[in-house]
Amino acid sequence: MTAALISSIASLRRQLTHVRQANHTIGLVPTMGALHAGHVRLLEQARVDCETVVASIFVNPLQFDRPDDLQRYPRTLEADRELCDRIGVDFVFAPSVDEIYPGAPECTVNVGRLADHLCGRFRPGHFASVATVVMKFFDIVQPQRAYFGEKDAQQLAIIRRMVADLNVPLQVIGIATVREPDGLALSSRNLRLSPEERALATALVRALRQADSAVAAGERDPAAIQRAAVATIPADPALRLEYLELVDPVDMQPVERIDKPVLVAGALWVGSTRLIDNLLSTPKATPQ
Ligand code: PAJ
Repeated sequence: MTAALISSIASLRRQLTHVRQANHTIGLVPTMGALHAGHVRLLEQARVDCETVVASIFVNPLQFDRPDDLQRYPRTLEADRELCDRIGVDFVFAPSVDEIYPGAPECTVNVGRLADHLCGRFRPGHFASVATVVMKFFDIVQPQRAYFGEKDAQQLAIIRRMVADLNVPLQVIGIATVREPDGLALSSRNLRLSPEERALATALVRALRQADSAVAAGERDPAAIQRAAVATIPADPALRLEYLELVDPVDMQPVERIDKPVLVAGALWVGSTRLIDNLLSTPKATPQ
């Protein structure tokens, strides 16, 4: 069966009314397209869990802080749709910018201190725009379940918190990060890396793994772990570390001492491409 490609909110709502009347569960996978094996994992899980699967494909201009990033963002709708067909997605919702934003919104979601650290510190307004567009998709689709990748751990934490704080009646499902064999987390932005940059890009996951080994080995001081991890990043002019932080996995606040699982997250510029990644690191239990 081919996935129905829908661009209008009214038409998607009409179709989903029939789905709901048949008492079918709806799963939503919000994406910005240029689908890769990471997105596929989310779609496949939704396919297993739900009777009807909606994939949204919308490059949300409001969440981009740099015009060149928005302009260079890969757009591959035809290939995305074929992929969705193969997975058995029922509806591909690919609205225009005007359909989602007939005018600049006055009322938006405020995400508070969950956006104070990690990416939020360097991308002011980014997560408010992500939360706002996701809330719009939740309202349009009204799914029982929505799927997000752990690759964007701060985004996932913010969506979970938004759903709790605003009483959105759905279950948020987090999916483990899909990686290349050498550890690089899959990302639509990887398409932009030159072969030389692609080789350098694994520096981020190697630094995160260094931090993870230090946590597992019993180091309790986040500053010491951070220093050891940062030291693994090669001194190459193409590489610039934006941040590498250890935070609480739920409230995204820095931790003072590591005595429970901690999120180790980083952002690394590779040439003109910004990559992010994270690992959940668990300290070994201390003998009583
Ligand atoms: P996008 O970057 O297209 O990602 C869509 C979803 O795929 C997100 O939940 C993201 O965490 C997940 N994903 C990306 N790479 C992954 C990987 N390697 N492994 C597992 N999951 C991965 O995130 C967005 O779009 C947007 O901010 C959006 C939520 C759609 C709002 O505009």
